[in-house]
Amino acid sequence: MNDFRPAANPSIAQAQAARTPGRAHVLVIGNEKGGSGKSTTAMHIAVSLLGDGAKVATIDLDARQGTFTRYVENRAAYAARKELALPMPVHAAVQASGDSADEKARFEAALEPAVTTADFVIVDTPGSDTHLSRLAHTWADTLLTPLNDSFIDLDLLARIDPETLKIVRPSVYAEAVWKQRQIRSMQGARPVDWIVMRNRLSSLAARNKRDMGTVIDALAKRIGFRTARGLSERVIYRELFLSGLTLLDLKRGGAGGNTGPSMTMSHVAARQEVRDLVSALNLPPPAPGTSAAPATSPAMPVPQAGG
Ligand SMILES: Nc1ncnc2c1ncn2[C@@H]1O[C@H](COP(=O)(O)OP(=O)(O)OP(=O)(O)O)[C@@H](O)[C@H]1O
Ligand SMILES: [Mg+2]
Repeated sequence: MNDFRPAANPSIAQAQAARTPGRAHVLVIGNEKGGSGKSTTAMHIAVSLLGDGAKVATIDLDARQGTFTRYVENRAAYAARKELALPMPVHAAVQASGDSADEKARFEAALEPAVTTADFVIVDTPGSDTHLSRLAHTWADTLLTPLNDSFIDLDLLARIDPETLKIVRPSVYAEAVWKQRQIRSMQGARPVDWIVMRNRLSSLAARNKRDMGTVIDALAKRIGFRTARGLSERVIYRELFLSGLTLLDLKRGGAGGNTGPSMTMSHVAARQEVRDLVSALNLPPPAPGTSAAPATSPAMPVPQAGG
């Protein structure tokens, strides 16, 4: 790791950069740590952008596990069952084959039509270091890394001194992003805007939460990312998967009327959290000519109680 250099964070310039005409903005959701909320976050961002009237393509690079693909399939099935006009992304899944050249060809075959027809391409990556995932990282205009609010998850970004909480050195995932930034720069692509968001935040002001905040802020400066507030720990994020819905689809006093007042308040707060996350991404507006009419879905019931 001797050659590791912190990358200057180009977030401000990136946020102000116009989209390349005729090309979608590529948002990659990545973290080598499994179970950090990548697929859940990817789906929520996709539906949020669809709700704003943007054209969204989604790509699942974790096709073996297939969570993102299943989420989209569940959504289509729910819409058909309930006869609802839910906004849908154009979805593709790319299978790993173990052959780098073949995987590159498969990935580009999925990416190219998405990039030329959509406003945003959202790529969900596996929670491990794979060739497909590395490839996707070099295509990211924006890289979003969800991180469980735990020092176990942070360990993939940096080694931390247990006594002082000082950063000892960046670790594997930070190094991988740095390498992918270099490849991107050699290709003449504009710099990636890397954002780390904390996921499954506890509502309690625990010491771990405070310490994580301090270390992440220090790390942001050291390895060049910016932070977004992220999502709280809420049961509703797990419950929505089976119906393919997101918090953005739920309407206050949903048609089923099975939402108690406190639960509804919790959902409203959660939905705001998702909206705040999307606005913190500072994505460029959809290309001119994209339908300005929001693709709204009818009010629908919350599938199960929870929050
Ligand atoms: N904010 C949250 N509150 C509660 N549960 C959550 C939250 N975010 C994610 N989860 C749950 O955590 C688990 C992991 O989420 P998810 O599958 O989205 O992570 P992932 O990073 O895509 O995982 P993998 O690396 O295996 O692909 C799931 O059970 C999901 O429902
Ligand atoms: Mg996943």
